[in-house]
Amino acid sequence: MNIFKSVDSIRSSCLACRQNGRTIALVPTMGYLHSGHLSLIEMARKVADIVIVSIYVNPAQFGPGEDLSRYPRDPERDIELCRNSAVDMVFMPDDAEIYLSGHSVFVNEDVMSKVLCGRTRPVHFKGVLTIVAKLFNIIQPDFAVFGQKDAQQARLIQKMVADLNIPVSIILAPIVRDVDGLALSSRNVYLSAEERERALAIHRALFSALALYRSGERDTGKLKNHVLNIIEHSQPNLIDYIEILDNERFVDVKTITSTALLAVAVKYGKTRLIDNISLSPAEGME
Ligand code: PAJ
Repeated sequence: MNIFKSVDSIRSSCLACRQNGRTIALVPTMGYLHSGHLSLIEMARKVADIVIVSIYVNPAQFGPGEDLSRYPRDPERDIELCRNSAVDMVFMPDDAEIYLSGHSVFVNEDVMSKVLCGRTRPVHFKGVLTIVAKLFNIIQPDFAVFGQKDAQQARLIQKMVADLNIPVSIILAPIVRDVDGLALSSRNVYLSAEERERALAIHRALFSALALYRSGERDTGKLKNHVLNIIEHSQPNLIDYIEILDNERFVDVKTITSTALLAVAVKYGKTRLIDNISLSPAEGME
């Protein structure tokens, strides 16, 4: 497994792979890898000859006062995990390599980036789309794998690829949860044991709403209230949102007729957790 720090060096290795007719799958991450990330790597391995993992805590996607400086990092462990997962190349640039002084071009999405997390994190998706576009240009992968855990991010990346004609196939991977149901996230380390216990209400609420949906409930007001009641019981420090949106366009729906996304963002202590579940007609027929 090769580790690259510079854009030029990984570029030439990728070029050599392509010239040899080998396909490339990219898994972009911010490191502090967990089984959720590893599931993306496995998926990448299934579709392409070469798997590249990028590990870069992208400052542009953190707003003022967010957790950039304390974002968990463990590059040695990440490299070991990549090695054990048979990753071919790891791209670990530093800030100076990615954002040259005077960097002033960003990728912005004007509609779907404004809802859900975009309301309280106004610069976040601009930073995400910019780094992902840069990674696509540097690596030029055939495939890129993203997790459904960050549903809005994944949808915006699909939209960017479609709207800007970027020649890459986006693959979505399902949410990986801990045994207790909490969606894996690098930020879970911030939770105290007591906060983590309370945070289990999130997945209980989502799956309970799914059960209600499966029993025939299609009124999103009632479904959202159901989720609210369960989460409120866990004494969260803040409920940022509980929303049900059309899965494609990310607009509010009142009655579910096609696949919808039930998404929540809730704070326990200072830690903001996001999670979601898909409510699709196919589910309702089970
Ligand atoms: P990060 O939070 O490290 O996540 C990297 C990828 O892992 C994302 O596609 C995310 O959706 C996926 N992921 C995280 N937790 C997961 C889980 N429990 N199950 C399945 N997949 C999971 O998302 C980012 O980094 C950054 O915004 C990035 C796209 C790398 C741009 O900087």
